[in-house]
Amino acid sequence: MSNVPVITIDGPSGTGKGTICSYLADWLQWHFLDSGILYRVLALAAERKGINSDDEIAIVTLAENLDIEFKNAGTGSLVNIELDRKVVTDEIRTEICASGASVIASIAKVREALISRQRAFQEAPGLIADGRDMGTVVFPNATLKIYLTASAEKRAKRRYEQLKEKGINANLRDLSAAIIERDERDSMRPVSPLKPAKDAIVIDTSFLSIDEVLDKISELVRNAIPKLKK
Ligand code: DC
Repeated sequence: MSNVPVITIDGPSGTGKGTICSYLADWLQWHFLDSGILYRVLALAAERKGINSDDEIAIVTLAENLDIEFKNAGTGSLVNIELDRKVVTDEIRTEICASGASVIASIAKVREALISRQRAFQEAPGLIADGRDMGTVVFPNATLKIYLTASAEKRAKRRYEQLKEKGINANLRDLSAAIIERDERDSMRPVSPLKPAKDAIVIDTSFLSIDEVLDKISELVRNAIPKLKK
């Protein structure tokens, strides 16, 4: 087992996970795994190949052979994502792609096919892992496990603002319905459901600014990894 430190940040979408993880990866200059990207890219690849989400065998084969590249400077936050050597960074950010990802993510064999790719990110000096099952399944021995949560209403609003900022059109009511449906699916699935690990620290971000969340988490990181000197 590797003794490279891992910090897991799990929780539903719209809790500020992405922002927090990018900040931590840049601050610590650690590697960054945004595990949702794997599921999103797989959903996009399946759509492009005309594979239906209930064709489990074809989806699992696709997962095993997925040609995906995470582009960054080695450590720190992500810059670009490539599928079959072509940039798909913006394309995978739509709510349709997220829903597709959530559907295929409930297939046990898909999760199995993607687990070693995720564990391969655990490289020195450390890893920030963002997802739903990072602390429970993928990195059960993580140094620090954080679970972020927030009310569905707040999360939908944040996602809406994020998409708007990126120039992606969205309707708040539709977005809210899609997010609630996706969270329910992610939480109710029998394999690796969305839930805090027993030893995770749960933070409700509903009434916290991103800076307040960052302050809390930076403190937890300093305490968990005293040799950091940051
Ligand atoms: O984090 P995200 O919104 O990019 O994730 C998209 C979907 O992928 C999410 O709704 C469920 C799935 N997912 C998962 O099942 N396990 C993970 N570790 C990350 C994402």
